[in-house]
Amino acid sequence: MIVESKIVPVALGGRSYDIHIEAGAIDRAGVLLTPFIKRGRAIVITDRNVADLWLDRLTTALGTTEVVVEPIILPAGESTKSWAQLEALTDRLLALGVERSDAIIALGGGVIGDLVGFAAAILKRGCDFIQIPTTLLSQVDSSVGGKTAINSKAGKNLIGAFHQPVHVLIDPDVLDSLPIREVRAGYAEVIKYGLIGDKQFFDWCIENGAKLLAGDAQARIYAIAMSVAAKAAVVAEDERETLDRRALLNLGHTFGHALEAEMGFSSRLLHGEAVAVGMVLALRYSARIGIATMAEADQLAAHFRSLDMAYDLASSGVQASGATLVEHMLHDKKMTGGKLPFILCHGIGDARVEKGVDLADVTAFLDAEA
Ligand code: GLY
Repeated sequence: MIVESKIVPVALGGRSYDIHIEAGAIDRAGVLLTPFIKRGRAIVITDRNVADLWLDRLTTALGTTEVVVEPIILPAGESTKSWAQLEALTDRLLALGVERSDAIIALGGGVIGDLVGFAAAILKRGCDFIQIPTTLLSQVDSSVGGKTAINSKAGKNLIGAFHQPVHVLIDPDVLDSLPIREVRAGYAEVIKYGLIGDKQFFDWCIENGAKLLAGDAQARIYAIAMSVAAKAAVVAEDERETLDRRALLNLGHTFGHALEAEMGFSSRLLHGEAVAVGMVLALRYSARIGIATMAEADQLAAHFRSLDMAYDLASSGVQASGATLVEHMLHDKKMTGGKLPFILCHGIGDARVEKGVDLADVTAFLDAEA
């Protein structure tokens, strides 16, 4: 049977919402978003690149239900997650006379979703917002879960709030216009869910990853639905990361953060690329301390390699000593009580938070990996 759409609920009591995944959803946004558009207008916030590709299509679709679109187009790129852009955006929204139940739509990748979500969180002490994510990474990760933020001089995502969207609308077809490098980077976050807690889904990824990256419609919908369902389950259990549960989503991110930092958080290594290598390193380190097998780490590395993705330090382009990389990790905001928790795998599909990891051993491990 051809599955064209899926709805995944995020169960959070009064803050519950649905993630609606449908090929061609942007063209049906007028109908699909009707319940969330109360005053006949939608404020669509996007970036220059996404506006060129999708804003007209979304405006036309909303127009079919007589919804008037007020577009706000911001510069593309990570530097848009700034105080300056937040101030300009909130001023603009206030000038538009925004009300708390107005439809504020974030159309774009993680930068737009995080910025708009934070603006919605603080504007009038909390406005509704809708996510329409346009990258694979934002579709399977950042559009769901309610973490919103901007960057500051001290680091990324340090100023923010938990603020859930009222709806997430995902159109897998928009990925057709995404550079393949970004699709691959997003795929790292897809297979991550298998590594964390679903060996069967991991096996599906091994089998179908290439098809997914090639744009197979069924594979896309299945992979996105499985990913957001996994994330929704974690968020429902541990919305504000007070338990270890939500921290599991950081698998590959501690090692990955060190690689990104070493590359100056630049396009030399995208976030998802760093996470892919970070997950291989986490699995290899898990094997080193005897909780996973090297065969499992090798399987993941070989899979990424077969998809032309970075899979180890050399292929990531990072050349740094173990000490330098561990130093980057120590600057990561995930430090708690002076300890650096690592997410490691007790085999594929069983990630756990490990708080007693010996940093000297991690340093030696990374030196040996270089
Ligand atoms: N918005 C991303 C998250 O909550 O994880």
